[in-house]
Amino acid sequence: MCGIIGAIRRDGGILNSLVEGLRVVEYRGYDSAGVAILEDGAIAVRKKQGRLENLEAVLEDGAFDNAPVGIGHTRWATHGEPNDRNAHPHQGATGRVAIVHNGIFENYLELREQLTAQGVKFASETDSEVMAQLLDLELQENISLQDAMRRALHRVEGYYALGAICQGPEGPELVCARKGPPLLVAFTPDAAYLASDVLGVLPHTDKVIYLEDGDVAILKPGSIEVTDFEGQPVEREISKVDWKPGDSGLGGWPHYMLKEIHEQPDVLARTALDRIDLERGDVTIEGGQFEDDFLQGVERVQVLACGTALHAGMIAKYLIEGLAKVPVDVDFASEYRYRDPIVVPGTMALAISQSGETADTLGATRLAKELGAKVAAIVNVAGSTQMREADQILLTHAGPEIGVASTKAFTAQVAAAVLLAVRMGRAKGTLPVEEAKAILTELNGLRTKIEHLLSEPIRDHIHDLAKIHARAKGFFFLGRGVNFPVALEGALKLKEISYMHAEGYAAGEMKHGPIALIDPGMTIVSINAPGHVADKVRSNIEQVKSRGGVALSVGSHEGSHKIAGQCIRVPETIEWLSPILNTIPLQLFSYYIADLRGCEIDKPRNLAKSVTVE
Ligand code: F6R
Repeated sequence: MCGIIGAIRRDGGILNSLVEGLRVVEYRGYDSAGVAILEDGAIAVRKKQGRLENLEAVLEDGAFDNAPVGIGHTRWATHGEPNDRNAHPHQGATGRVAIVHNGIFENYLELREQLTAQGVKFASETDSEVMAQLLDLELQENISLQDAMRRALHRVEGYYALGAICQGPEGPELVCARKGPPLLVAFTPDAAYLASDVLGVLPHTDKVIYLEDGDVAILKPGSIEVTDFEGQPVEREISKVDWKPGDSGLGGWPHYMLKEIHEQPDVLARTALDRIDLERGDVTIEGGQFEDDFLQGVERVQVLACGTALHAGMIAKYLIEGLAKVPVDVDFASEYRYRDPIVVPGTMALAISQSGETADTLGATRLAKELGAKVAAIVNVAGSTQMREADQILLTHAGPEIGVASTKAFTAQVAAAVLLAVRMGRAKGTLPVEEAKAILTELNGLRTKIEHLLSEPIRDHIHDLAKIHARAKGFFFLGRGVNFPVALEGALKLKEISYMHAEGYAAGEMKHGPIALIDPGMTIVSINAPGHVADKVRSNIEQVKSRGGVALSVGSHEGSHKIAGQCIRVPETIEWLSPILNTIPLQLFSYYIADLRGCEIDKPRNLAKSVTVE
């Protein structure tokens, strides 16, 4: 939520690097965009409601060429509607400082009242502006920006990644601070940068410093100093990022979502293949993670995640219970953290997250840890907070996911869950080696089946089906067993990007109520795979068909296809792996429907990538 960017450079060129930085972090929020630039001792702010293009349209050509420092922001509105006034950066009353903020100042109303009583006039409805006003007042005492920042931080409560600029007594200053939302800094011999994710600095360097909660960083061209809130220096490691700047480009695709759907054969290969040991019928997770002595102590698994990642977690439940015979609970992270969860000895909390920065997932896993659980994480972003706070890590290698609707990260999470379940089953002795070998051999060969699903004839067929269903009154996605979460995911994808009403259901639940909604305007997408629930799914399709619903069958069970009439044939695989294959046509189906309806696929309304607020 909200992308922030900052740069200080010896040789100017700030505006260009801010706009380029905003372009790559815009997926984090796109209600408005803005920049603040310091030139000749004065700050100029340009900000505009809506997409980055709106801001670019008001940036004067060749302006600010010599400016040494600036900050930028793309917003996902929390306080105050998305308009020009509430767009960041915000300035204090005298205009001597500008800030960008991601997060929430929870005591902003109280601070606003206090400041108003002191005569401060607010220009926006945001919580963020209180920080600009506080800094402005502190700076009137002729102290440095870093000192003003530390004083102001002692007055605010809440969560923030913050960047601020001003003209200090000795020159331009750029300072940032973190508590909660992600923030990292990086430097080159002639510049220093801050950003809310690595993509923002990757065009300049692949060496970054991830700030931790309670850090204040002072950026100068060629150097960065990190201190705590009291001004004491703290050591922070420099980490090398594996991603390349080009990984975050569209590369000729019309949308990131389509590009990312098509990356799935490679993503599966990167996440799974090197970890599979077919000889031993086992899995090796690099860095000595999830080894026998750890897994043998796990008596219960508590999955904690949100949204699409939660659906991957639900699949992990079927896999771990089925293969490792360990009981698994799955919770919405946002629910878990605000009830009184019971953590019994031997609990492994398993966080699943693409970004590794989702506030609810972090909050829930911190609680589980406090209650005595060991924390494991399946995470995509190396260096993320979730990764750094986990005891055991399994990285998915999906690469940067820019499309707001998660696609490749999901199939990578499911592949990682297969690896973990096999590893646990082997460590616990519940999974016979021959069965493990069969699962891993099939996983090893899944790439070509994914490629087949993404081939032109299948894509065209899905496109044709999308044309038929693009005006349906609503959708039910039905699945059973390990494909029940796939039904949830199919429905989530469709509603996120096409704004059509879609519900995912356990197929057997239909007759307990929802079947009342079936009529000829409803499309029922039924997901199936050969296996012990295949015939049950088929009879669920018969039930909806006989009530006038239009059925579309997705999977590899011919019996279901025959009853449904319309179908998407998915290559056969073992039931455990069928969620990976069955999800892909559903992603394409949603994509084409959204495209036919003229929706903004990569930036759906009201959404943003990486939900760093509660
Ligand atoms: C849906 C989607 C979200 C995320 C959820 C968790 O397409 O992307 O539901 O899955 O916000 O995000 P991460 O995985 O970053 O924790």
